[in-house]
Amino acid sequence: MVEHAVLKGSTSGGGGGLPLVLLHAFPFDGRMWEPQASALGAARSVLVPDLLGFGGTPLPDGPVGLDRQADAVAGYLEREGIGRAAVCGLSMGGYVALALAERHPGRIASLVLADTRATADSEATRANRTATAERLLREGVDWLVEEMLPRLLTARTLRDRPEVTGQVRRLMGAQAPASVAAAALAMRDRPDRTGVLRALECPVLVVVGGEDLMTTPEEARGMVAFCREGRLAVLSATGHLANLDNSDGFNEAVEAFLAGLDRR
Ligand code: MLT
Repeated sequence: MVEHAVLKGSTSGGGGGLPLVLLHAFPFDGRMWEPQASALGAARSVLVPDLLGFGGTPLPDGPVGLDRQADAVAGYLEREGIGRAAVCGLSMGGYVALALAERHPGRIASLVLADTRATADSEATRANRTATAERLLREGVDWLVEEMLPRLLTARTLRDRPEVTGQVRRLMGAQAPASVAAAALAMRDRPDRTGVLRALECPVLVVVGGEDLMTTPEEARGMVAFCREGRLAVLSATGHLANLDNSDGFNEAVEAFLAGLDRR
C-alpha cells in the first residue's frame, strides 16, 4: 500500500482575496517564506506547506518525485478546504507548481513562477544531481550549504547582511540529508514542462532576480514568451532567492499581480 503523504504547513493572513500557496526552494522549508507570510496576508490567506521530507513533513517511504510532491500539495489544499488558489513556487517550488498545474489544473487560479525554469535538466546537470545525492548520503548537507550559498544571494547580501546569510545557512543546514538527496534526484528526473506553460489558461507572473545566476533573467523571459497571459518582473540587484534577498521588491511584485486578479 502506498503511504498517504501528508504535508505539514501553516496558514496566516485572511480576507476575501484569492488564497496564496507558497512552495519553497531546494533545500529549504516553509520558513524561507517568513517575509511573505505576513506581508502578503493583508488581503488573503497565505498557506505555506513544507514539502515531503522538509521542515516538519517527514520523508515518506518510496520514491518521492516532483509529481508526488505535487499530489501532496493538492491533498494539502483539499484538507485545508481550498478549491482554487494562486500558487507561487520559487525554484524547486516552481518545478512543483508546474507539476501541480499539469496534474491538478483545477487547483490553479494563477501562477507565480519565481527564479525557476520550465525546461528539463541537461545531461551534465543530471549527472551532477546524481553525484550530489550520493555525496549527501555519504557526508550530510554542510558541504552543499557552502557550495550553494554564493549562488543563492548576491555578493552584496553575502557581505553586508549577515542576518539573511545566517538564516539561509540555518534553514539549509536543518534539512535531513536523505530528503535533500531525494529532492536532488526528483529534480534530475523532472520532464520538460514548457508544454504545460503553453497550455495554461490562467494568468502567470514570472519573477526573477536580475542577478540570479542559477535561473537567469534570460530564462525567465523565455518562460513568459510561452505563456498566453504572462508578465515578467525582474528585480534589480537581486539574486536567486529573490524573496529573501529582496523581500520588499518580491512582495510588491506579487501583491500587485494578485491584487489585479482579485479585482477581476
Ligand atoms: C532551488 O533553488 O530550488 C534549486 O537550486 C533549483 C535547482 O537546483 O534546479
